[in-house]
Amino acid sequence: MQEEILRLQNITKLFAGSKIPAVNNVSLRLKEGDILGLLGPSGCGKTTLLRIVGGFEYPQTGEVIIGKNKVYCPVTWIPPEKRDVGIVFQDYALFPHLTVTENVAFGLKNSNQISLKQRVSEVLNLVKLENFGKRYPYELSGGQQQRVALARALAPKPKLMLLDEPLSNLDIQVRLQLREEIRDILKFAGTSAIFITHDQEEALAIADVVGVMRQGHLEQIGTPELIYSHPISRFVAEFVTQANFLPALRQGNLWQTEIGTFELEENHAQDRGEIMIRQEDLILEVDGDADADAQIKITRRHFLGREYRYCLQTPSGREIHARTMTDIVLPEGTSVKLSIADDAVRIFPE
Ligand SMILES: Nc1ncnc2c1ncn2[C@@H]1O[C@H](COP(=O)(O)OP(=O)(O)OP(=O)(O)O)[C@@H](O)[C@H]1O
Ligand SMILES: [Mg+2]
Repeated sequence: MQEEILRLQNITKLFAGSKIPAVNNVSLRLKEGDILGLLGPSGCGKTTLLRIVGGFEYPQTGEVIIGKNKVYCPVTWIPPEKRDVGIVFQDYALFPHLTVTENVAFGLKNSNQISLKQRVSEVLNLVKLENFGKRYPYELSGGQQQRVALARALAPKPKLMLLDEPLSNLDIQVRLQLREEIRDILKFAGTSAIFITHDQEEALAIADVVGVMRQGHLEQIGTPELIYSHPISRFVAEFVTQANFLPALRQGNLWQTEIGTFELEENHAQDRGEIMIRQEDLILEVDGDADADAQIKITRRHFLGREYRYCLQTPSGREIHARTMTDIVLPEGTSVKLSIADDAVRIFPE
């Protein structure tokens, strides 16, 4: 059975002069070896929560337990350097006057020369920079600099890595490649991690567990699959899946919308709500004989390589979006019929 590497118990942090807590009663548990992807809009408290785990911020209430050590509770305070965590920031934060090797060795001051050399070479191998030890940070690309930062943080073999948007300064190609590599590197090293990102796809791809934050709260936490297929609220659904939302009226088990009626298992007392349909779950077919006032029309089409993204206008003038593979191409202006599997639809009551 996996041991627990991190437990947060009712953590609240209110900054001086602020009326709303930056982190509000957050509790979570992380298993050893797992990567937690922490996702949420700007200002929702992600960095503050990470800084509390790292020991750079004092919460007002709660407990932080890393491995078996209680590192924070109202009567205990373990400083950052004794918490056994490694940290990687968005801006690399390398020492410009030190070489790659010296940067990586920086966190290993207490080792003897032989084990230091060995460990530096091990982690540089791990991040595929074994031939870059003599270079200075300015002689490296952004992606390479971030690998050095990762190697430096991993060198002392921390129990827990804290990564605050480590990829957001990189361009998309490097970002996609490095996100896979970071996952592989952490998994290979067996290091647990918290990985903060704004990017829902990045969180789903890199993490074993995804936490979605909203205004200081942890709104939902679960596997990427669970968060994607069973978002607990409209906020999570919108943030994680970029789905369509349409007003719906209930009659028994049937929910009526302007694009069709859906039979849903979920039992709700409310008669009004919004249905959620993911963009990839809308299937488009040409509709030759729709009434003029009941038409769903393609207003725009964007080619995205692997797929097209269609903007559709519903009879009431609402805009919804569909993404489909590129095998069928429908021109702008076409009237379409939509087919949607009932199990692809979710309802959020009002
Ligand atoms: N040192 C501070 N003093 C006062 N308020 C702060 C401080 N640091 C952060 N805050 C506030 O706390 C809230 C949460 O900030 P935080 O940096 O944790 O958000 P975030 O989710 O990391 O955002 P982003 O995605 O933009 O990095 C914000 O409202 C912010 O203004
Ligand atoms: Mg932040």
